[in-house]
Amino acid sequence: MRILAIETSCDETAIAIVEAEPEENEKPVFTEVVTFINSQAELHAEFGGVFPQLAKREHSKNMIPILGNVLKDQETEIVSFSKEQIVEVENILERYPDQKDALIAFAEEHKPSDIDYIVVTQGPGLAPALWVGITFARALSYLWNIPMVGVNHMEGHIVSVLAKENSLALPAVALLISGGHTQIIEVENWGHYTLLGETLDDALGEAYDKVARMLDIPYPGGPEVSKRARAVRESGVDAKFDFPRPMLHSKDYSFSFSGLKTSVLYTIQALQKELAEKNVSHNEATPQALSNEIRDQICFSFEEAITEVLLKKLAFTFDSSSAKSLIIGGGVIANQHLRTILAKFAEERNIELHIPDLEHTTDNAVMIAIAGYFTILREDPSIAPEIIANGNMSL
Ligand code: KG4
Ligand code: ZN
Repeated sequence: MRILAIETSCDETAIAIVEAEPEENEKPVFTEVVTFINSQAELHAEFGGVFPQLAKREHSKNMIPILGNVLKDQETEIVSFSKEQIVEVENILERYPDQKDALIAFAEEHKPSDIDYIVVTQGPGLAPALWVGITFARALSYLWNIPMVGVNHMEGHIVSVLAKENSLALPAVALLISGGHTQIIEVENWGHYTLLGETLDDALGEAYDKVARMLDIPYPGGPEVSKRARAVRESGVDAKFDFPRPMLHSKDYSFSFSGLKTSVLYTIQALQKELAEKNVSHNEATPQALSNEIRDQICFSFEEAITEVLLKKLAFTFDSSSAKSLIIGGGVIANQHLRTILAKFAEERNIELHIPDLEHTTDNAVMIAIAGYFTILREDPSIAPEIIANGNMSL
């Protein structure tokens, strides 16, 4: 089964083709045929986060060039559409008038010969961004007569490990940590998931990015915060600030990072005030006025707090679960320290740890294709179905 997948839930426009075989099997093998990602992160940096209308505009602008790249070396044929088909697809593309003609012309010249299904992220994510992918996917499904389904982005993060290995002990627990999500999910089997708990406020990556912002580190600041934390950890110094560990002892699977974030903010403000009082020339003390040593310490103390929370929640989860594997998804697992402590956790508990390759931990279309495969087994794909973007879609 060959799948064309489109992902536009946040600030990455991603399209991929994945081959899934065998078709009806507990352990399908997925082969990445081609994959493209265009990240808008730099464009959003000046807004300090992802700006939905900008994301929408960029997705719509990039969709056809990326499709062109994806189909460049694939077998395609030239087709022509009837007047009725053009009218119908103009209706589908109503909200993207500037892309309409280009897409129709592209579709006429590039009908892929061997795509069995189109899949597209339906949610969760930013609704204006999701709509772009859904609309273009519907137009292609209609013009090329290829059945399609909508896919849950979080299922994509869970199954993203299957891009590199097809054998993994089930049941598993998935910990998804990204800029938009912090969730613990029980994976009874592929396609069968139970959300055990999630963050009540900020996502983990969001907390990293907010702390970064307080320290004047540009968005997305997670990697820089963790780099600074590592420098302190490697120097062997203890954490200077005792930040709160929210919900550490709550006997549930929920997270909350907003109290921790506020505590970091108050600490920074107090330090700035102290500086201003000490030195009249610093009466407008900014985060830059804090020494690098202090800023590194804040990053380190923050990371120590979130590490403890994650470990405690995972311990609670595995204490009451028969799961044999731990799957981690989402951009925050690029964090080397978290990788180290989670590997240690898995070893102590004698469970398998599965982390996708870096290119599959952040948003990508390969994971959407894989999730699409399981969705196709559960649902009835059809031509250009009325899929509604669902910003809060749950598993
Ligand atoms: O999954 P992802 O690429 O995008 C979505 O949020 O969907 O995750 C990006 C998030 C950002 O918040 C970024 O700051 C964070 O992952 N991140 C990190 C690290 N690398 C990326 N957070 C902590 N440590 C890192 N090394
Ligand atoms: Zn994601």
